[in-house]
Amino acid sequence: MQDKSKHPRLALPAKLISFEGIDGCGKSTLMDQLANWLTKAQIPFITTREPGGTPIGEKIREILLDPASSEMSSRAEVLLYSASRAQLTDQVIVSAMNNGSWVLTDRFVDATFAYQGFGRGFDLDRLRMIQEWTIKDVWPDKTILLDCDIDIALSRLKARDGAERDRIEQEDKTFHSKVRNGYLALAKKEPERFIILDASRPLEDVIKEFYEKFWKQLGN
Ligand code: TMP
Repeated sequence: MQDKSKHPRLALPAKLISFEGIDGCGKSTLMDQLANWLTKAQIPFITTREPGGTPIGEKIREILLDPASSEMSSRAEVLLYSASRAQLTDQVIVSAMNNGSWVLTDRFVDATFAYQGFGRGFDLDRLRMIQEWTIKDVWPDKTILLDCDIDIALSRLKARDGAERDRIEQEDKTFHSKVRNGYLALAKKEPERFIILDASRPLEDVIKEFYEKFWKQLGN
């Protein structure tokens, strides 16, 4: 029986593209690159981020990333990330795509599998159930995974001017390694959706590889 709670998903040409990776991997820079390209090509698009991307989501983001939220339970963490995502899906993503606009998002559903599932050890099957309800079948068309050496990513985070590390960034190296390996495991399971880029290299090389792989695979 068809699940009526699922969003009607308008097909082509609108695409949902998510950018994922550990903190400091450079995904925001790469997303800006694609945004510039789409602007030049006059393809309508919006950009957004998670957690956040809506007024409600941005309030949830503050709670999630505040270092003072140190006593947050892992269940509360999952549900808050999911609440922000549900709001973004309902308020922004589905309507943009139904209007024919691409959506580029700085993190989406895979971040919860990687950080809360692989990083915190939250049960993956349960997470999948929660996420299926959260995004109502609006899975990304392509997910760009910037895979980066932990030390390089952490040194990039340190080099950010004066920015205080948020609650998740403050986690130790072991946690970030688990997240990195988690992302790679997710990508291995869905090779047709994920594009993995070696983000330990200089940005120009990453951008070049991105364009080569992205246009080739988008049609698949
Ligand atoms: P950002 O720094 O890339 O904006 O992401 C915010 C932080 O939240 C980052 O450390 C990753 C983390 N995060 C999760 O733990 N789970 C999630 O579902 C999402 C979207 C982000």
